[in-house]
Amino acid sequence: MGKKEAGYIYQVMAMRTQHRQLSFLLLLCSLCLAWSAAAQEQSVRPGINRHFVDPDWQRWVNTFERPGREVYDKRHAIVEASAPRPGMAVADIGAGTGLFTRLFAPRVEPGGTVYAIDISKSFIDNILRTCREQGLTNVTGIVNTPEDVGLPADAIDLAFITDTYHHFEYPRQTLASLHQALRRDGRVIIIDFRRDPRISSRWVLGHVRTNKAQTIQEMKEAGFRLVADKPLLRTNYFLEFVKSE
Ligand SMILES: C[S@@+](CC[C@H](N)C(=O)[O-])C[C@H]1O[C@@H](n2cnc3c(N)ncnc32)[C@H](O)[C@@H]1O
Repeated sequence: MGKKEAGYIYQVMAMRTQHRQLSFLLLLCSLCLAWSAAAQEQSVRPGINRHFVDPDWQRWVNTFERPGREVYDKRHAIVEASAPRPGMAVADIGAGTGLFTRLFAPRVEPGGTVYAIDISKSFIDNILRTCREQGLTNVTGIVNTPEDVGLPADAIDLAFITDTYHHFEYPRQTLASLHQALRRDGRVIIIDFRRDPRISSRWVLGHVRTNKAQTIQEMKEAGFRLVADKPLLRTNYFLEFVKSE
């Protein structure tokens, strides 16, 4: 074999080795991508928030702030039972049209703040507008992602979540971010539909993912302890949690 041929064979072998190394690297990358996709939480209810992507403000005011809706009819008793105090930082998570944001804002004065948090920018823009119109100056709007409440660590004393827990598409990640945002002695209130085949409407059975026991279990797994189950409402439950030790 001449020098030229030997050189050629050497080049081909080197290229094959490089090719094999590249294939191995590609395989490794695909495995890593597949692993991280599997590790990520999947949406527990894809599409549940589609109506809130570009919401018609007036339609939702008429829906959320109408007599006959239990949490609207009992809104003052709900705020009272949530025990807001002057100086507190309250997060209204899934604030919607701001029904509860506007009720909490004067109750944490002086010195307190209400964070109106929603995945819908349009809801937040309109909440800030209505708060301005009503002279409420202690409301901060946050447009969060479906996975994260969008607050810094140790930012709030009270998280208020009404008719929204069943809208969390990524409850594990959302609750982990809430756990970080809640101060040591902070509280979380969850008000949501009772889901019981004996008493719930077909709409509730189809729309709402967890019943009370499942919500309590998911909260427990996320590091929260149930401290109160207040018999304030008929078609909804009212649960209060603190961080577990
Ligand atoms: C049924 S509405 C309830 C609104 C309000 N809490 C009330 O009771 O009037 C649910 C709200 O949760 C919001 N939402 C859904 N998933 C969310 C998430 N992961 N974080 C914050 N808001 C969310 C929706 O955009 C919607 O405004």
